[in-house]
Amino acid sequence: MNKEKAKKRIKALREKINYHNHMYYVLAEPKISDEEYDRLYKELRDLEDKFPDFVTPDSPTRKVGGEPLMEFKSVRHPIPMLSLDNTYNFEEIKEFDKRIKELLKTDNDVEYAVEPKIDGVAVRAVYENGILVLGATRGNGVVGDDITENIKTVKRFPLRLWNSSISLDVRGEVFMDKETFTRLNTEREEAGDKPFANPRNATAGSLKLLNPRKVAKRNLDLFIHSMGKQVFPNINTHFDTLDKLKSLGLPVIENRSVASRIEEVIALISEWDKIREKQRYMTDGMVIKVNRFDCQAKLGSTAKAPRWAIAYKFKAKQAKTILNDVIFQVGRTGVVTPVAVLEPILLAGSTISRTTLHNMDEVKRLGIKIGDTVIVEKGGDVIPKIVGYDDSLRSGKEREILAPKKCPVCGSVLVKLPEEVAIRCINANCPAQLKRRIEHFSERNAMDIRGLGEKHISQLVDRKLITDITSIYRLELDELMGIERMGKKSSENLLSAIAGKKRDYFRVLYALGIRYVGINTAKILARTYRNIKELMAAGEEELASVPGIGPKIAESIAEFFDNSKNRELIEELIHFGINMESKEEKTGPRPLDGKKIVVTGTLKKYTRQGIKELIESLGGHATDSVSKATDFVLAGDNPGLKYEKALKLKVKIISEEEFEKLIGKG
Ligand code: IVH
Repeated sequence: MNKEKAKKRIKALREKINYHNHMYYVLAEPKISDEEYDRLYKELRDLEDKFPDFVTPDSPTRKVGGEPLMEFKSVRHPIPMLSLDNTYNFEEIKEFDKRIKELLKTDNDVEYAVEPKIDGVAVRAVYENGILVLGATRGNGVVGDDITENIKTVKRFPLRLWNSSISLDVRGEVFMDKETFTRLNTEREEAGDKPFANPRNATAGSLKLLNPRKVAKRNLDLFIHSMGKQVFPNINTHFDTLDKLKSLGLPVIENRSVASRIEEVIALISEWDKIREKQRYMTDGMVIKVNRFDCQAKLGSTAKAPRWAIAYKFKAKQAKTILNDVIFQVGRTGVVTPVAVLEPILLAGSTISRTTLHNMDEVKRLGIKIGDTVIVEKGGDVIPKIVGYDDSLRSGKEREILAPKKCPVCGSVLVKLPEEVAIRCINANCPAQLKRRIEHFSERNAMDIRGLGEKHISQLVDRKLITDITSIYRLELDELMGIERMGKKSSENLLSAIAGKKRDYFRVLYALGIRYVGINTAKILARTYRNIKELMAAGEEELASVPGIGPKIAESIAEFFDNSKNRELIEELIHFGINMESKEEKTGPRPLDGKKIVVTGTLKKYTRQGIKELIESLGGHATDSVSKATDFVLAGDNPGLKYEKALKLKVKIISEEEFEKLIGKG
């Protein structure tokens, strides 16, 4: 095919595919079979591969995700992304209506648009001349992250508007449907990754991935629910605006209604509450909006939320079930946690059979006993909890929940430190602790050993193939092949995952699992002490003097390295080639030594990550929020709220040029 012909065919294919996408995803009325669609799609992809000059960012093939990004750029929202005021009862809804009438100076009924409140992540999308050019998170309402490449992978996010070249600023909610969420969590558990607590967290986590191809696999979905600025001259209501957006191909919120007065609003809420569990997506309430734009304009907004809208939040769902038992689980640092074993019960769409009771103080506070009929509650965040028990159903046969005296796994005597609520197993060789330690060591933020999940670790520890962290590096192929569900290929993959990776020093420090040393503390330590020898030589007092390291952390680090077993562990890890030093040179000028610096706005020569790294390599600390302790704010173009805060606190503000002079570059 020659270039001219290819160009024409590509155009025709895109139009066809866009049409079928619209029919399938937005109107749910497919006009062709999946095979036929796949054929068109493949033809387009092949042609674009052959003629890359004709690839455009709005081609339907771009929805599978482009190249990974290094970081998200900041975007300023010219019209802020506001939040909503909440209410939890109908009385307050009536008060809201009364307030609206007072502000509008009317006794007449006000018309409201009523919609489900989607439990997802707020996004803003900008279409210029009909083409999707920007997708952003809400951030702090004024400045968010540019997630354009990620939202492009959301199937129902049209890359171009349907038959229109209009420009729009729309707002909506990206979410994960319940089925996808359950599937994703099952996959994560099988791979040994931590499951997400709820669909909203799963959505937020997915949108934060820097690799759009991975985002594409998360099967995110979208509802558009409003506009930044009204642009349709003849449309006067919110409800009609959404109809219009739908006709442009945008997937607007479903199950929306108009109520001619507040009693109807309340009836609609009650109706929805009965059927919301059956929907494919999670809703945590309903949004009530004054429908007419002229009324909205009169009412206006506060800095935080519009006065013309309110969110009614559903109360957490409760159910009663029997507390069959309480078992005790041992965590990485030996903390022993009581876990309630429940008679399985279906609550708000999922079966609950276990829930954590956190610690014995919580058990005491609740006053529950084994055999009690307990009240389980599941709020919007899906993690169920016990909130009480039904005293009237007590028979007298209930059993007290007693704190164990011995570790349920290794049998050592448990201790309770005076300043803690937790009880602990302090046997460093306890297999349960070892399992948690290994899980921590191999997790994504730490050594990121793919394929070494919870189930594998459990078996490897039980079979004594892993007896401490370093035994991971001594595992052999035939040992791995002996464990359940490990074939030759997956065992080989695991071995190369163990051997293959050079991890940053701060990740290694984090992986060691020192108490209170999270990823941020590990970064501070790696910056201050360039290698493990320096860190080990620093005593508790010196550690406590490092900015960002408190006395509790300092004590815990010193204690860790005082232990000869831990020192042996480090020696062995070094022997296995694990990286124990920061890459950057310690020597060289450190003109920003100890300076706390906040960066805001877009810089000409540096990315956000790049400037942070530069600051830190020169001895400074790049922090995120402006306070009196900030030494200076480096402001680029379109600086955000941090700039305003710096002005207010009279913190020094410098330009990119001044910064370069300061570091001897200018
Ligand atoms: S209207 C000025 N409608 O709820 C804000 N918001 O608490 C106008 N949300 O982050 C928002 N479903 O993204 C509106 N049907 C709906 C919504 C909805 C979910 C989110 C929204 C915002 C949050 C506010």
